[in-house]
Amino acid sequence: MNTRIAAVHARRVWDSRGRPTVEAEVTLTTGTIGRAIAPAGASRGSREAVDLRDGGSALGGMDVQRAIANVDGPIAAALRGRDALDQAGIDALLVALDGTRNKAVLGGNATVAVSLAVVHAAAAARGQPLWRHLAGDGPVALPLPEIQIFGGGAHAGRRIDIQDLMVMPVGATSFAEAMRMTADIYRAAGELMRDAGRASGVADEGGHWPAFDTNEEALATLVRAIERAGYRPGEEAALSLDIAASEFGADGRYRLGLETRELDRDGMIALLLDWLDRYPIASIEDPLAEDDRDGWIAFTRAAGARVQIIGDDYLTTDAARVRLAATEGACNAVLIKPNQAGTVTEALAALRAGQAAGFGTIVSARSGETEDVSIVHLAVGWNAGQLKVGSFARGERMAKWNEALRIEEALGGSARYLGAAALPSARRPKTLRG
Ligand code: PGA
Ligand code: ZN
Repeated sequence: MNTRIAAVHARRVWDSRGRPTVEAEVTLTTGTIGRAIAPAGASRGSREAVDLRDGGSALGGMDVQRAIANVDGPIAAALRGRDALDQAGIDALLVALDGTRNKAVLGGNATVAVSLAVVHAAAAARGQPLWRHLAGDGPVALPLPEIQIFGGGAHAGRRIDIQDLMVMPVGATSFAEAMRMTADIYRAAGELMRDAGRASGVADEGGHWPAFDTNEEALATLVRAIERAGYRPGEEAALSLDIAASEFGADGRYRLGLETRELDRDGMIALLLDWLDRYPIASIEDPLAEDDRDGWIAFTRAAGARVQIIGDDYLTTDAARVRLAATEGACNAVLIKPNQAGTVTEALAALRAGQAAGFGTIVSARSGETEDVSIVHLAVGWNAGQLKVGSFARGERMAKWNEALRIEEALGGSARYLGAAALPSARRPKTLRG
């Protein structure tokens, strides 16, 4: 099989916020093509790979012509003639060519698009779907999804402080059933907003616009939506929160804009522990700010036995940071965003570091997305166990949920939906569970 790379090319396409982004296309000597599009975050960790943007006044400074030139120029020159099956070697080449810790020279948007396009080309050359190419002959499972019902934070003009209010269909028996439950809950939430005279459209990832007076009102409404849809909160559909606390916290202080109150680290932890006591929350992401290591350790000591605690901005898909967090007991799960790392191989290393530590691992989209469904294949092919894509509306989100349904169908009788077994608490001996 000839899997040599003949050409690498990038073009400007547009993401779900109408902003420019990079699409890369890798063509093998046989004519086989792999293609992928870089996503873009809005609430970004400070250690993430850089999205190279042109600045200036055109397109609000968001244009990506420099990143595209990097693909068509130095990256294409370096990759020509390389074997697309050698993902690790190609990604190492991209890392070396860039030469910075955060892809500041080539742009993480350039490198992640190329890296993903290479793995697509390799899978296509082998005549396999990407998830199967990644999994090899090993067994795979359909991930437990977390689906946003209300969007907030940076994705909703800071209308409420919490960024994502999500559900996890832990009681479903298949991915298809999980989607069906989600449809019911998303619709019920919309009806509750309409009945309260508060229906106001959707936020960046498709969740209902959070027209609430307090953060807690959003939590209570989510529980009511689950009940209204006919499911038992906690048992069948659990709550999952992304606090994205770096957006409103720094130096051990947390400013809740909606409620105009400022909390110190202990106050913030007390607020979250109170919510954990009173709401059926199974997972909580970025509960403290990325600079608040002591807060993360204290919160995980207090709550790590009963809830999944995910590092997103805190870990930025970095294997070394995952290992450090595991040693320090700073969290028990890692969000895997390929564009935070900048290459497929580095994202995989972060995921494997998480699995080695007994962490929950969640492959995640960004708030700026496209029709690209690569992350669904990564979640299945890498056996991540969990998948976070945003809400249950808008094409760039539904494309990913629908792709997972196709994979479940392709697996036929051997399809296994992980449900609650994907959470780190399920992997702990019973005696240690909170
Ligand atoms: P972002 O947020 O893609 O806007 O950075 C997503 C998240 O925080 O999980
Ligand atoms: Zn997050």
